[in-house]
Amino acid sequence: MSQRAVVFGASGQLGVELVRELRARRYDVKGWDRTQVDITDPAAVENALAQFDAQVVFNSAAYNQVDVAEKEPQAAFLVNGLAVRNLALACRQVDARLVHFSTDYVFDGAARHPYVEDDPTHPLGAYAVSKLAGELYAQAYLEPNWRANCTPRRIWIRPWWCEHRECSGPAD
Ligand SMILES: NC(=O)c1ccc[n+]([C@@H]2O[C@H](COP(=O)([O-])OP(=O)(O)OC[C@H]3O[C@@H](n4cnc5c(N)ncnc54)[C@H](OP(=O)(O)O)[C@@H]3O)[C@@H](O)[C@H]2O)c1
Repeated sequence: MSQRAVVFGASGQLGVELVRELRARRYDVKGWDRTQVDITDPAAVENALAQFDAQVVFNSAAYNQVDVAEKEPQAAFLVNGLAVRNLALACRQVDARLVHFSTDYVFDGAARHPYVEDDPTHPLGAYAVSKLAGELYAQAYLEPNWRANCTPRRIWIRPWWCEHRECSGPAD
């Protein structure tokens, strides 16, 4: 039986590609864009995940306006921080793994070596702080070995750059 996966933010650059790649790998995929599931709405997230029964949940939804975030930090925090809490709690309820996309902005860029996972974070602006908050929420609610097995319940990835030329709409 194929694995079931959900992609939030499915019409974004990464979301479109994730849905395509998961389908190519024979996952049973449900991709939701913001009009279908707004991740800042805890009940909407909970209901959506309860209906689809996914084993793995990808969060590619984000507030990505790095400069504008300085003027509207609440908006950035709502999507990049608090909404990840919604996802983590909902994943916990259905025992799904959360794969969350953060950013290299959680570092200040001052290191003289390539960053590794355990390097201390030092976010320098509202966007970076909001993304780090999302990581911390996932960490707080989805322990690495939340159940008594060795499967990590949350994974986060800190991309530097990604782009996609065909972000025409979500895949259902
Ligand atoms: N692109 C990069 O170079 C880069 C670099 C570092 C990290 N990242 C991270 O990688 C991830 C994917 O980035 P991306 O480039 O694919 O971003 P993107 O193209 O801006 O896509 C983000 C998606 O999130 C959706 N979204 C925003 N608020 C939402 C909400 N409340 N509920 C549901 N969906 C919502 C947006 O929908 P609307 O279009 O309706 O707003 C958009 O489709 C993000 O976490 C980002 O921070 C990206």
